Amino acid sequence: MTVVDGTPAAAPSEQDVSRLLPAADIEHAVTSFMAASPSARRFDVEGDFDWSSADCGRLTEGQRSAVRFVTLIEDHLPGYFALYNRFFPLDEDVDPADFVRNRELYHFTVRWAQEEDTHARALFRYQVASGLAEPERLRLELAEEGRRRFILPFDSPVSLFTYTLVQEKATQLYYQQLRAVIDEPVLAEILNRLSRDEARHFSFMADMLERYLIRYGDAVVEPIRDVIANFRMPLADTIKGYWRWALRIADTARYDHTDAYEHLIRVIRHAVDAPSDRVEALTQFISACRAPV
Ligand SMILES: [Fe+2]
Ligand SMILES: [Fe+2]
Repeated sequence: MTVVDGTPAAAPSEQDVSRLLPAADIEHAVTSFMAASPSARRFDVEGDFDWSSADCGRLTEGQRSAVRFVTLIEDHLPGYFALYNRFFPLDEDVDPADFVRNRELYHFTVRWAQEEDTHARALFRYQVASGLAEPERLRLELAEEGRRRFILPFDSPVSLFTYTLVQEKATQLYYQQLRAVIDEPVLAEILNRLSRDEARHFSFMADMLERYLIRYGDAVVEPIRDVIANFRMPLADTIKGYWRWALRIADTARYDHTDAYEHLIRVIRHAVDAPSDRVEALTQFISACRAPV
């Protein structure tokens, strides 16, 4: 028996936990996400930046390297999007009960993908407009990484949402840190816009995770723990020299994905008023995985 919010709940079967949430739950999360980004608040690559004044001459070598790095990460969107489609397929092989859940999530996935694609376009355009890169060469460079398949070492939806939650928060924090040390108004505006979007992406994942915790209690502890025990930022295993590069950009602005862990702990505590021993052990484990500040 699991106790969540002080209410005893029937022990869920393993099969339930390994599925997507019921469609009505997802619909609520999707609606909140959409409401937080009305069209008036979205940005436009063509019209919202003063491209003619973009100037990479105002950046240090480390800052330029950071821009190249984050462009590569954002530009891998086709790989991330394909992963969502593998997790939540929408075709004739899916039974109708799963299809309705997957279809509901798809409303989020396409909007999220559209926003991430805008991030990739804004950074590409910045590199070209500021004189940091020549377009043909940059396209080929991005293609070299972009064509690699993106895989994660787990298959449960809760794990995927936990992974994305950490990754979105870590990216948001990095954009804010980088924004604080640069003196280049066009890049500063891009980083403002991007970090606001990442914050909303984080909120959606937090909402999904809370709903899993409320509905399934202790049964989601293991899939969350799995993610933290084996965490790798996206492309950490595919980009050549990733770790050296990541350390170098961390010299420019603080970059540590474990900074996102306290936000994950907060989400868990928010969902679970009276934590069981297993939930308590999970938050202690996540806390212990944080790098010292
Ligand atoms: Fe992004
Ligand atoms: Fe994002």
